[in-house]
Amino acid sequence: MVKVTVLGSINVDRILQIPRLPLPGETLAMGGQSSAGGGKGANQAIAAVRMGAKTNFIGKVGREGAADFMLDTFKKDGMNIEHVTYSETAGTGQAYIMVDEHGQNSILIYGGANQAITVEDIQSAKDAIKTADRIVAQFEVPIPVIIEAFKIARENGVQTILNPAPAIKDIPTELLAVTDMIIPNETEAEIITGIKVTDEASMKANAEAMFKLGIKVVIITVGDKGSFYATADKDGFIPAFKVQAVDTTAAGDTFIGALSTKLSLDYSNLEEAMTFANKASSITVQTQGAQNSIPYEKDIHL
Ligand code: RIB
Ligand code: NA
Repeated sequence: MVKVTVLGSINVDRILQIPRLPLPGETLAMGGQSSAGGGKGANQAIAAVRMGAKTNFIGKVGREGAADFMLDTFKKDGMNIEHVTYSETAGTGQAYIMVDEHGQNSILIYGGANQAITVEDIQSAKDAIKTADRIVAQFEVPIPVIIEAFKIARENGVQTILNPAPAIKDIPTELLAVTDMIIPNETEAEIITGIKVTDEASMKANAEAMFKLGIKVVIITVGDKGSFYATADKDGFIPAFKVQAVDTTAAGDTFIGALSTKLSLDYSNLEEAMTFANKASSITVQTQGAQNSIPYEKDIHL
């Protein structure tokens, strides 16, 4: 059983069903609204644990009951949440997710407790990093915290996987230098390399530029088209499964959590693991909401 530690965010997602984005000064009626567990980190950890990984989570929440409710569901899935701590001052992270009639989303996030994670929290969670096979992180927690965690991982031979989302400018080279595998989307890739993703050749050029930064495996996700991969000796494009999307929230997170679970430590089954992860995320998009829509291993039929 692969051991995956996820360092990341926990959000309460407020899902707003909208006909379209309102214009400045305009008032629009919503079709409906609901709440669900979310946060890129938590979504990826849930995907990992549901696909069969021994999963440890490092994160922070506020003192509201909503956070405890989410943590209970993580525990029910079998996740180790020993290293989820409480902030006495910041509230649990929140996301406002506007989903239009085509299933396209626009998201506003409030970092809250996710942004209150400290380097000391990472040092206290050292064991959860050292004993893992791989650690996965995203950009909804402070960058210095990710650098600390990845350095501990590197010193202990633990693989590091970075999902540089949401996109930020000027990612420290210090972080990329301790990143083994990176999983950006087209926009996030371009921010890192300055090379626009237009076709497979440009994806390859992106990967080459990332190799120069010290990264060994590059996967660029291209929405409902699929994803491109490149290692030092091979590259290719794995198409997505065609389904009717209701809400794409957490599709990328499902892909990353599932891939982190199914990918062998020598990356030799990369294509198979990506196909499996694509299948998993094609199920996530067919239900509204983040964590509630992430499937279990038994639901994946290839
Ligand atoms: O990737 C999807 C997630 O991004 C949502 O669950 C929301 O919380 C935002 O963080
Ligand atoms: Na969904």
